[in-house]
Amino acid sequence: MTEQALKALLDSMTLEEKAGQLVQCNAGMFIANELAITGPDGEPLPAEELCRVMGSVLTFEDAEQAKALQDMHLASDPKQIPLLLMLDVIHGLRTTYPIPLAMGCSFDDDLMTECADMARRESSACGVHVTFNPMVDTARDARWGRILETNSEEPLLNSRMGAALVRATQGDDLSNPENVACCVKHFAAYGAGEAGRDYNGVELSERSLMQDYLPAYKACLDAGARLIMPSFNSLNGVPSVANKKLMIDLLRKEWGFEGIVISDYNAVGELVNHGIAADMKDAARLAMEAECDIDMVQCAYYQHLADLVRERTVSEATVDAAVMRVLKLKNELGLFEHPYHGADEEKEREVYLCAEHREIARRAAEESAVLLKNEGILPFRKDVKRIALIGPFAEETRLNGFWSRPGAERYTVTLPEGIRNLLPDAELNIVRGCGANFEDTETAGIAEAVRVAAGADVVILAVGEPEDYSGEGRSRAELSLPGPQMQLIREVTAANRNTAVLLFNGRPLVLTELTETVPAILEMWYPGTEAGNAAARLLWGEANPCGKLSAGLPRSVGQYPMPYNRMNTGRPKPLPDDRAVPFSSCYLDMPNLPLYSFGYGLSYTSFTYESLITSERTLKENGEIQVTITVQNTGNTAGKETVQLYMRDPVASVVRPVQQLIDYRKISLRPGERAEVVFTVREEQLRFYNMEGREVSERGEIRLSTGYADHLILTESIEII
Ligand code: GLC
Repeated sequence: MTEQALKALLDSMTLEEKAGQLVQCNAGMFIANELAITGPDGEPLPAEELCRVMGSVLTFEDAEQAKALQDMHLASDPKQIPLLLMLDVIHGLRTTYPIPLAMGCSFDDDLMTECADMARRESSACGVHVTFNPMVDTARDARWGRILETNSEEPLLNSRMGAALVRATQGDDLSNPENVACCVKHFAAYGAGEAGRDYNGVELSERSLMQDYLPAYKACLDAGARLIMPSFNSLNGVPSVANKKLMIDLLRKEWGFEGIVISDYNAVGELVNHGIAADMKDAARLAMEAECDIDMVQCAYYQHLADLVRERTVSEATVDAAVMRVLKLKNELGLFEHPYHGADEEKEREVYLCAEHREIARRAAEESAVLLKNEGILPFRKDVKRIALIGPFAEETRLNGFWSRPGAERYTVTLPEGIRNLLPDAELNIVRGCGANFEDTETAGIAEAVRVAAGADVVILAVGEPEDYSGEGRSRAELSLPGPQMQLIREVTAANRNTAVLLFNGRPLVLTELTETVPAILEMWYPGTEAGNAAARLLWGEANPCGKLSAGLPRSVGQYPMPYNRMNTGRPKPLPDDRAVPFSSCYLDMPNLPLYSFGYGLSYTSFTYESLITSERTLKENGEIQVTITVQNTGNTAGKETVQLYMRDPVASVVRPVQQLIDYRKISLRPGERAEVVFTVREEQLRFYNMEGREVSERGEIRLSTGYADHLILTESIEII
């Protein structure tokens, strides 16, 4: 449709029809599906009336349902305005790739692009118009269950991976039925909830907000994301969905965002719980005044917006602007002409779980796994005869993560399947040994596990945190392995030292005792559909682990928040970190540093960092220099290495972090091969927000290093002049 036609359509709409365009309902209200709704139940709503006027639906199952929903709505809508169909496709639709926190460990933007492109193909065939993705909330506290859903604790890594996903998902023309629009979320700073508790209030300084929490949203909007979702939390006292400073001053005016703002699930109605709205009508007013365009579920807008306009409490122009943004996206997607967009049952059968997609998912699972420890145990020998596979995850199918699509476990390649695919002739003995739930206390099965372990050539301990222990509404106050898993691990490892642990979890866990007990640990996160094949290939060296931690792993939950880009304090704790130092910033009972730091990860080979050389010693405003880091594969196996570049600004007008990632690049090296990795460092990459909130860099020394967080090497200084 032309702009004029859209305007004419808007002018023809009644107030109720305009309000309806700003309402999103659960598809399950109109068509039976097995999908879990993604929020609390609310009051029953008038389905028939809503079906006629609503502008969008969320959470449907497949192309058949997508078409049925569109048909159902268009059959009752006199204005023939097609629905927007939205879905949470966070890391794969039917072919599930690793959780985002694991993808961050790959440090591979191109791999992220491949995975997002795969998800786009499956999502468009399913009939998805908008995916509620990427989630790029900076998360520095693993008590928060949604840390699994973001790529990293690190703003730059989150920014680059989020933007890569947006570009791959949206393509260059949304009217192409194979492309899907992105909704970046959750704006803003949802990951900084007090005490690591989901939905909790967030109090942040402007500088921390701008330095660490906002960049990734901005990067995704700059990459073209058409929608953004305000977060549930209050930010410095005002819930995001009603936060004019965030939603109008920053998002609309300063960033110039002209796309759609869609609330999170009943976040408008929840303004009453927050205590800033007296009732649902007041909530609708506050959200509309903050230019929140779409009210997701529970329909505060449906029930009150028309009245608010009639009472002149809310201007019709504000409502019209919101409706026009919705109509424009529908028009850009080509829905007026092709309301089904990419929905295609035949295409679903063709692309879902196809060999190409499985290969991508398997490679992603391999490249996001992090080898935390390896005392000469891995890789196992291929001529092994007797394998013991032990633990509550030994035969687990739920290795996909909280935001995998419901039913994903039906398609998971389990560990036994993966091992048998690789070593069909080896003897494989499987013993569960114990449970992995909080309430599991039974340890009778451990004896059998010990017996089988003792008689094996190699032992695989498959342990972790159940899939539904992380994700939305899944915060934990402790981060230990649930149930009697550590007892199982201790007794099995005592029976056979040739043991490697496979860890399945959605958040950083406290692995202090595990690390002291076992000789090898492979952090698999929730690797998705190809879990078993990836794990087997990693264990036996068909794939060489190359993941680097996208978030540090704590020694204790008491260390949180534990950002890698921490401040030095006026009394920094002198090294070594293993003992308290009076009158320094330290703990009496624990080292300061994480157990495993951001950017850490081992390989089956070894890499030697030989030099870091800068092309210039000085850097002018808007100038750039080249930094060349020479790395050699000094081992006897080919491998991939993520070369990381860090900065430190030792003296500035505000305190600056002891380390800040400013670039990274993943390289592949054969044994003995040497590479010169050249980074271009632009002056603007070194800028920060000063006391006045302006983004500046200041004259003076900048230290550039490589290695990984808390283990920086080859430091060279340049000077900003
Ligand atoms: C949920 C989540 C959000 C998701 C939305 C729709 O509550 O907070 O990330 O996209 O509802 O399912």
